[in-house]
Amino acid sequence: MIIAIDGPLASGKGTLARALAAHFGFPHLDTGSIYRATALALIKKGIDPNNKEEAIKAAQNLDMFNIIDSELRTAQVGAGASVVAAIPEVRKALFDFQRNFAANPKGAVLDGRDIGTVICPDADFKFFVTARPEVRAMRRLKELHSAGDNITLEELTAQIIERDYRDANRADAPLKPTETSIMLDTSDLGIDEVIKKATGIIESNG
Ligand code: C5P
Repeated sequence: MIIAIDGPLASGKGTLARALAAHFGFPHLDTGSIYRATALALIKKGIDPNNKEEAIKAAQNLDMFNIIDSELRTAQVGAGASVVAAIPEVRKALFDFQRNFAANPKGAVLDGRDIGTVICPDADFKFFVTARPEVRAMRRLKELHSAGDNITLEELTAQIIERDYRDANRADAPLKPTETSIMLDTSDLGIDEVIKKATGIIESNG
């Protein structure tokens, strides 16, 4: 069984993906981490993520099996990830790894922006997770502050608006639900309720 989970940043899709993977015993891939790792490889070398040629090279040379998560969660890396993710050749370089992951005979849960539309269009379940922008901003602010990033709410809100716009309006694989996506608005739900809802949908239709 393949479970595809898409949605904008801090919508709760990552938490839901991890919980569903644990519940059903499936491997999980946070596909944002490979875009973040591509951006980080550039940032570490002092290269602007807008440098298309270098971004493509970074994606092609990425060691996807050795990504160190602790370095990826800053606002700077997230913003850079969204820039490199708009480059079609970067997406192409990262495609096979994601497809192979999804082909695991044990099943798989993948979360990202284009899982239901591009990576796993035949997924058994496609969730599109959303939350109101102000709720997402407060969630992400808490995460970044506890990770030692001192970004302000105003700066973060501006970044979220910019990132949402770029992710939803790029020509290649924009963030959008499919006709069969199950919409989940997590704004007013606790994480346990979200997990219960999604698990219930899968178990009653599986
Ligand atoms: O989900 P996360 O915030 O880690 O993703 C970082 C960026 O990577 C997103 O803003 C998006 O531009 C890009 N991304 C993507 N497709 C995916 C996953 C992430 O374009 N499947």
